[in-house]
Amino acid sequence: MKFTVLTLFPEMIQNGCSYSVFSRAMEKGILELNTINIRDFAKNRYLSVDDYPFGGGAGMVMMADPVCEAAEKALHGREKGSVPVIYLTPQGEPFTQQKAKELSAYEELILLCGHYEGVDERAISEVVTEEISIGDYVLSGGELGALVVMDAVSRLVPGVLGNEESPVDESFSGMWLEYPQYTRPRSFRGQEVPEILLSGNHQAIDNWRLEQAILKTMKIRPDLIDPERMNKKEKAIYQKLLSLQSPESLL
Ligand code: 6GU
Repeated sequence: MKFTVLTLFPEMIQNGCSYSVFSRAMEKGILELNTINIRDFAKNRYLSVDDYPFGGGAGMVMMADPVCEAAEKALHGREKGSVPVIYLTPQGEPFTQQKAKELSAYEELILLCGHYEGVDERAISEVVTEEISIGDYVLSGGELGALVVMDAVSRLVPGVLGNEESPVDESFSGMWLEYPQYTRPRSFRGQEVPEILLSGNHQAIDNWRLEQAILKTMKIRPDLIDPERMNKKEKAIYQKLLSLQSPESLL
């Protein structure tokens, strides 16, 4: 999969992609990163890419022309809509695991990072196919949003994760947060690894982990819980925990 990022800070994107899973997948040729500096398409001798907003108000607006030309360079003459062009903005649709899964099916994604108070609306209507927000807070630019989207999407691309790090057993693929994990040593500053994890009883371990996952979710993210989506076993554990005086005390 190829990511083309339109940005005023290409080094921020390149640096963010130079670690761990992403950089290994680039070495393997499974992922490709291309950055386009929007400032390369500035029109005046000061290389301005922003200007005052019509109608007044605080801050600056990114000019339509450099943004559109950067996007058109990324498209290499392909028609608009043939590749997703995603504008990262707090005004976008909330980014979810489901969205990451959908985007992972594309051969290429073009990501537009805004700065200042936003991008001239006419550039958005010219080149952008969708707008994504990574959460309900304001960032000073779209770069961190682009890195978040690239991370979540790329780890769903076949071959990016090794067998060791398969994405199937993770909380947001289903309804539950992750159960707690432990590794050596068995005893750390007086805290012991739960006995059951040393028992070798895989059935009991699976049950304990599911119960821990359900408890954690009840405590931290009750909004994620939908009894309609539970299987029999999950429902039984959930009902049992609900009937307890204080499920939190089990965590
Ligand atoms: Cl994707 N970009 C910016 N600039 N701010 C955000 C965001 C994205 N998501 C939440 N806030």
